[in-house]
Amino acid sequence: MNLFDVYPLYNVTPIKANGMYIYDDKNEKFLDLYGGHAVISIGHGNPYYIKKLTEQMKKISFYSNAIQNPLQKELAKKLTQYSKCEDYNLFMCSSGAEAIENALKLASFSNKKSKVIAFKNSFHGRTSAAVAVTDNPKIISPLNAQQKVSFIKFNNIDELEFELKKGDVSSIIFESIQGVGGLDQPEEKFVEEMYLLSKKYNVCVIADEVQSGFGRSGDFFAFQKFNIKPDIITIAKGMGNGFPVGGILVNHKIKAEYGMLGTTYGGNHLACVATLAVLNELKEKNLQKNALKIGEYFKSKLEKIKKIIKIKGRGLMLGIEFDFNVSELRKNLIYKQKIFTGGSSNKNLIRILPPLIINKNQVDIFLKSLTIELKK
Ligand SMILES: Cc1ncc(COP(=O)(O)O)c(C=O)c1O
Repeated sequence: MNLFDVYPLYNVTPIKANGMYIYDDKNEKFLDLYGGHAVISIGHGNPYYIKKLTEQMKKISFYSNAIQNPLQKELAKKLTQYSKCEDYNLFMCSSGAEAIENALKLASFSNKKSKVIAFKNSFHGRTSAAVAVTDNPKIISPLNAQQKVSFIKFNNIDELEFELKKGDVSSIIFESIQGVGGLDQPEEKFVEEMYLLSKKYNVCVIADEVQSGFGRSGDFFAFQKFNIKPDIITIAKGMGNGFPVGGILVNHKIKAEYGMLGTTYGGNHLACVATLAVLNELKEKNLQKNALKIGEYFKSKLEKIKKIIKIKGRGLMLGIEFDFNVSELRKNLIYKQKIFTGGSSNKNLIRILPPLIINKNQVDIFLKSLTIELKK
């Protein structure tokens, strides 16, 4: 059997990793400014994380959601403390797309409507409803296309209200900093007006924090820059530092009923311990603050590089835009400079999503390598 060939692959085979670095099968060392797509938050091979997961594995790794699991309750409590999101309940699942799927479904259960408003250039995952609210026709199959979705532009409040007035909108889903789409952010005024309109028209606001959450933006959640209280918040990626875990935070006003949502793997013992370890390390090592501080440093240095036409994003979720396709540049960064970066649907943009432990010295290494490659 061969692999179902859906991924164009770089010719690198990582076999171990530590902190900010990945080592391949030839023992070449790579600086990781991609975090395996914003997943590695507290760094590769974090000793506390390994210790907690190992200890848990020796006790119990998994049982179904039909039994008591106090770790889920402990996690819900810690998540409230760290995120400062009061008045929410936690439902756990195993990936970002599954979190989105559950959020959209729950919104629809709660207000009995079915249409979704999403935004141009959005990315919310690959499963049924998640891909339907993703603005990329190439990855939407006829099955997915049955969902009722309108894509509108950020900051166009009139278009938004025009859609809401039709009365069939269940939810508005948005990324406070777009990930795959290329690091665009809606204006504060727009988000706050959108929130007020959602109340007027009985629509749920879903903040997709799958990529931007858990401290990456410099806030615990990127939406916290705005004065809003989303009805549902989706989480995954950095939450588990590589352990497959996702979830939704559901505002108290949306009531749970038995059987409404469910999953076999979601919230298992190892997933809870992985997330608790991540929260602990974020706090102990002050990583949210580091994301803010290093993000500012990174931007201030990038501003001095003339070939860059735009710097986007915040914290350690940054986009560097050029006036040419960056695919060759990214290849050279990997193969010649030994640095991993990310791409986006904007072919002229490099995405920077490092583990939140990155320091100024590692930023300088990247900047030096980038300058060398840009001079060629
Ligand atoms: C903002 C956002 N939402 C949802 C997803 C889907 O997450 P997953 O790949 O874990 O299904 C992604 C993945 O890149 C994402 O960036």
